[in-house]
Amino acid sequence: MELASHSPESDPRRHRRLRPRVGSRRAPLAVALCALSLAQCGQSSPAPAPEPVYPEKDRGAEAARLLSGPEWYRHAIFYEVYVRSLEDSTGDGIGDLPGLTSRLDDLKALGVDALWLMPIMPSPFADSGYDVSDYRDVDPDYGTLADFDALLAAAHARGMRVLLDLVVNHTSVAHPWFQESRQGPANPKADWYVWSDTPGRADIPCGPVLTFGTSAWTWDPVRGQYYFHRFYPAQPDLNYWNPDVVAATLDVARFWLDRGVDGFRCDSIGLLYESAAGCYMIPETVAYIQSLRQLLDAYPGRAMVAEPLGFGSEAPFFGNGQDMFQMAFDFEYGLDWGAYFSGSSAQPIADHFGSILQSNPAGAQNALYLDSHDIRRAFQGANGVDSRYRRAALIQMTMAGTPFVYYGDELALRPGTEVVVDARDYERTPMPWRGPPQGPGPWPDFGWGFTTGKPWIAFGADPELTNLETEQLDPASTYAFYRSLLSLRRGREAFGAGSLRILPTDDDSILLYLRESSDESYVVAVGMDEKAWHTGVAAGASLPGDAERLFGEAMLVRSGTAAVVHVPPAGMGVFRVR
Ligand code: NOJ
Repeated sequence: MELASHSPESDPRRHRRLRPRVGSRRAPLAVALCALSLAQCGQSSPAPAPEPVYPEKDRGAEAARLLSGPEWYRHAIFYEVYVRSLEDSTGDGIGDLPGLTSRLDDLKALGVDALWLMPIMPSPFADSGYDVSDYRDVDPDYGTLADFDALLAAAHARGMRVLLDLVVNHTSVAHPWFQESRQGPANPKADWYVWSDTPGRADIPCGPVLTFGTSAWTWDPVRGQYYFHRFYPAQPDLNYWNPDVVAATLDVARFWLDRGVDGFRCDSIGLLYESAAGCYMIPETVAYIQSLRQLLDAYPGRAMVAEPLGFGSEAPFFGNGQDMFQMAFDFEYGLDWGAYFSGSSAQPIADHFGSILQSNPAGAQNALYLDSHDIRRAFQGANGVDSRYRRAALIQMTMAGTPFVYYGDELALRPGTEVVVDARDYERTPMPWRGPPQGPGPWPDFGWGFTTGKPWIAFGADPELTNLETEQLDPASTYAFYRSLLSLRRGREAFGAGSLRILPTDDDSILLYLRESSDESYVVAVGMDEKAWHTGVAAGASLPGDAERLFGEAMLVRSGTAAVVHVPPAGMGVFRVR
């Protein structure tokens, strides 16, 4: 058995060789397992059977097929970008669209298929762009509409797609709609927002979203009334009971779809309508999302992903599996994987994904992430433990769902040290692309390939370790791991769209699962114990064939209808089974 670790077999030439299933290369493992009384052990040595020939698929061609089909979003690897922090092309210290365009080849080389851009529209940046003041333009910090068109064309030329953040629950106070609305109760946009003479209304039984303040009502001296906002006071909520608001925000989506965007990440979309019945995903909000989906479906090959709020709440966003979102973020995995990996039981992870299988309608696709612009960097989630980070990412890439990598995950970016907008800036620091200059550090004025000027915010800790150039030179780096992990997923239909079967073993510390498409099966093993080897038997796993390891260091053999897995401390393995 080959023990090369982290070696996804992405090069089709490697597979024209015969892959041994029996005979001497498997013997040491068989002996080891016999000694452990875990496998069936032959008494005599039969003549070696002829080695079977398994023609390997051309993974490049498979990837092209999967990514060009209508369900491309199941197979794509998404990459969330904070444009302000990705690459600065002008030297003003602020990342911009031409800068991002100049980095597309680096992202493509990593294995990225689609970008989700955090808001790029004009904004006072009271909430990092989630306070839009013009829905039909690009913020001057980031460039122009022509720069956006150029980015889109350059991405499409590379076979990459671009999703925009659609933020239509609220606008900025600076938006002309709000400026008009606040003029008084008689103007044409008077009820485009939610006004009240008192800081509360019986038909709006909700306060601000957690961490956005203590009251959802702010006094406006111009109008002489309070306005409603679930987020910062600078983000007044639109009044969706007004049909003109519905039409206007659907028109925003149409504007960007006409420009060629491949879809949207829909911000706080469950909060559009409020009524005495509640403030989250009430029937009118569901109906709006269905209208948005109908609009999207008029443009071929588009997709959208929902941002639910809170735990266990993804299912309502999928509707019947066809009429609402294609994808919704799995908050629980994103927030809790660090806790899962600080324990030694695989059960919470198995339970989590098992329950999603039960609750989501057919056709639903989980969007899996380890961190984002809203929550601590994955490096912190892992408590700085590299192997936790890597095992969590392996699950993200191989579990049922679509992975969303947050920029810098591939470098294990450290949290920042400075706040400009709010505490979430710790996870929004600039991307270090280049290695340190000659000579001893520190290098306080070095732009790390992000800027030639002064960055808008200080880099996260240790940029001399976590920059692309340095990590590219190190075969043991997080970057090398991510590249190889992304390549493992590429062109394998089972990971994007296959069925999921959790394979319980008699060892609580081993997570084992099977992903299957019509003609391929893969088993993934993840060990939770960081100190000891474990061996688990999955009785009745009934694997459809023998296991060939593609990735990691764990070992897997079939033993009758059982599968026996042997996992090193904090170990993992991905096996093709046939
Ligand atoms: C969710 C976004 O992810 C977050 O960053 C933002 O502050 C709120 N929505 C308000 O738009």
